[in-house]
Amino acid sequence: MKSNTWDNQWPDVETFLAWLDEVLVEFWRVLKPSGSLYLFCGSKLSAETEILIKNRFKVLNHIVWAKPSGAWKRSHKPSLRSFFPATERIIFAEHYGAEGFAKGANGYATKCNQLKQEVFKPLINYFKNARTALNISAKEINEATSSQMCSHWFSSSQWKLPTEKQYKQLQKLFSLRGDELSRTHGGLVKERAELLNKYEHLLLEYQDLKKQYDYLRRPFGVTSEVPYTDVWVYPPVQYYPGKHPCEKPADLLDHVILTSSKEGQLVLDAFMGSGSTGKQCLKLNRKFIGVEMEEATFKNTIVGFN
Ligand SMILES: C[S@@+](CC[C@H](N)C(=O)[O-])C[C@H]1O[C@@H](n2cnc3c(N)ncnc32)[C@H](O)[C@@H]1O
Repeated sequence: MKSNTWDNQWPDVETFLAWLDEVLVEFWRVLKPSGSLYLFCGSKLSAETEILIKNRFKVLNHIVWAKPSGAWKRSHKPSLRSFFPATERIIFAEHYGAEGFAKGANGYATKCNQLKQEVFKPLINYFKNARTALNISAKEINEATSSQMCSHWFSSSQWKLPTEKQYKQLQKLFSLRGDELSRTHGGLVKERAELLNKYEHLLLEYQDLKKQYDYLRRPFGVTSEVPYTDVWVYPPVQYYPGKHPCEKPADLLDHVILTSSKEGQLVLDAFMGSGSTGKQCLKLNRKFIGVEMEEATFKNTIVGFN
């Protein structure tokens, strides 16, 4: 708790949690299916806060923001009755069922099926017709190729092109089964190179769809250069009179914004304070909406944006 009025609006913890739950309802309403929620809280109430969030969102991480410096260095250690809370917690969450929603939103699952059935249809049919015409069993196919791939090559589920070696084995099996019949009624007479050409072309269409799907999924991109575990170490912003007391460090905000959004996407900070999130959003080409209750703070913040 800070000494500011906004941080002392609640008579007790229960009232605070009831208020927070109302806020979460609104976050739930405005968060996109592919959106991410980062909620900062002190370590003391982090358990209660996480439980509240869990009721409405899928919690992905309870991030510990460890501050390498702070007022705790000046604390009178012998007077401490418990360990000094030198961390803030960041609860990172998404909508329940977000992944499924992304699949449904662009019709990904349906399109995938269509793709298998429509786009790959000529290839699937080529293999299927040959097999039906010659009445070759799955067991014979698997034995001839020393594999369990029959269902991949001869049906639309997880369709795959056989390897060169397997294709030759299949050709041999099919031509052994009724020579003339094989040639005229569906033997595997086409060469694999010809099929491969077609397959690669179709694969591109499939990859395009995959790209669309990746675009609709919740962005999440980390590298070994940034914190990719749930422990983050960022020095807090140094406070001085006139400065917002809770300003978040710019590099921490950059990390959040870059990890969980793409250029041009929209970020909301419903407790804007100093406007630090907004400033980093503008720098990183994200759109920004900020909400601030205190008029004086808001006016100060707006100046900082210009
Ligand atoms: C923890 S600070 C935000 C710090 C901010 N993210 C930054 O980096 O500067 C919380 C801010 O939310 C504002 N606030 C508190 N309750 C609010 C409410 N119900 N609606 C809008 N703003 C509120 C406070 O005035 C305060 O500036």
